Amino acid sequence: MKIKKKKAIDWKSIEGVVIPVFKNRSIGEVVKQYPEVESFLKKYKFKGNINESIVVNSTELSKLLVVVGAGHVKQRGDAAKCANNIISIVKNYLLKNICVHFVQDTDIPDTYSTNFIDFLHINHYRFDAYLEKKEKDKKIKNISLVFECQKQISSEVIKEREIISNSLIMVRDLVNEIPEKLNPDTLVDAFVKVSKELDLDISVMRQKQLEEQKLKGIILVGRASPYEPALIRIGYTPDNYKKTLIVVGKGITFDSGGLNIKVGNYMEEMKCDMAGAATVLGIIKSAAELKLPVRIIAYAGIAENMPGRQAYKPGDIITYKNNKTVEVVNTDAEGRLVLADALIQAAKEKPDYIVEFSTLTGAILVALGDMIAGVMCDNQRFTRLLERSSEKTCDFLWEMPLFEEYKESIKSKVAHIKNADYKGASSIKAGLFLKEFTDNIHFAHIDIAGTAFLSKTNAFYSQQGATGFGIRLIIEFMNWLR
Ligand code: BES
Ligand code: MN
Ligand code: ZN
Repeated sequence: MKIKKKKAIDWKSIEGVVIPVFKNRSIGEVVKQYPEVESFLKKYKFKGNINESIVVNSTELSKLLVVVGAGHVKQRGDAAKCANNIISIVKNYLLKNICVHFVQDTDIPDTYSTNFIDFLHINHYRFDAYLEKKEKDKKIKNISLVFECQKQISSEVIKEREIISNSLIMVRDLVNEIPEKLNPDTLVDAFVKVSKELDLDISVMRQKQLEEQKLKGIILVGRASPYEPALIRIGYTPDNYKKTLIVVGKGITFDSGGLNIKVGNYMEEMKCDMAGAATVLGIIKSAAELKLPVRIIAYAGIAENMPGRQAYKPGDIITYKNNKTVEVVNTDAEGRLVLADALIQAAKEKPDYIVEFSTLTGAILVALGDMIAGVMCDNQRFTRLLERSSEKTCDFLWEMPLFEEYKESIKSKVAHIKNADYKGASSIKAGLFLKEFTDNIHFAHIDIAGTAFLSKTNAFYSQQGATGFGIRLIIEFMNWLR
């Protein structure tokens, strides 16, 4: 789907016009340019609220006119919801080429327009590889944007948002892909492909190199899988950078729980457990394509967590390269074991910041639901910057404390620490665990177990499954690192 800004409506190339109407703004211009809709706006007491829409078939113009509530210009969430509504209406009417006409002379802040564009792209996405043709027929080809107001988004920004949106598509396809097809080998291939396309440095460690490097956490978690585990490092270094950001992702291509096998329906969505790894790939891809002046290194710890006669066991103790020892009490707390190795390697490079993404705990879904991710960070300024980026992008974050007192509960009698504890605050304890491996580099852990993969749609997302959460957040955050 292409989105382009135009000076005026090109009537010949479109089948319909969408007219977003802001709340508390005059509808004078709307009725002046589209008199056919006036009686309907009055009849339905149209206020510009997000859930309002009116569809009129204009015989005079022989176009479909769609008036949608655009909500409040100052609410970035309204932009996302409005875009979602527009896509679903346009798809329902099987329109292929439309114009979105902002007729009201209202200054639209950048936050509104970027979210609007992003969520047009986001909601156009469908994971339909395994469906019959139907869904594919609903694809939209072109959206032209026409603004009547003074302050409006630039064509450059629209192009940038398209680049970012394409990374989201790649990431969502990877996360949605079935475990039969998306395994450690093919996830490694995805990283290699991006590195080749964008000429990025890449190093891939598989079984042999992992053993040479003594990356025991990754080896043990992946041992019962027919696929070798991996640690990938991929780097983008622009000429004129000031800061280095390392992003680290959890890449468990399937989490069965291992010998502590998941029961009931808890295993059903566990193909999503590599979302962190996919996210960091999406971040570096967008940053390189946008040629951002920030050095980025992405690490992905990749393994498939399986039971079997080779499986690692509760009671095993892992000695990490920083000499910390970890007692495995539960093979289903595998993410942190893999991430520990990745974080040790990352911290050795002494970056300015580390941001780590993982579908780490079911508890974060209980606490914050599927629209807010938990952030645990050891530096206040860093947290505030992430929160500000979150506010702008609708990749919502809420801080969970790295509460030192809870460290006591992950102490082990036979090792330094253990990988699980069952007395509450499991998201925070997972964060505290990870912090043991970051060697005092500014560190943020973002638990995306709730937000990376939706079991149901919501006002922002019309497709369940992978969301691409975190990419837009970090691209925005990188503005602070220039
Ligand atoms: N991958 C899961 C967490 C998860 C849950 C991701 C729901 C996405 C949706 C993780 O490896 C896990 O199993 N965590 C356990 C940790 C526990 C054993 C300490 C959990 O949260 O129950
Ligand atoms: Mn698990
Ligand atoms: Zn997991």
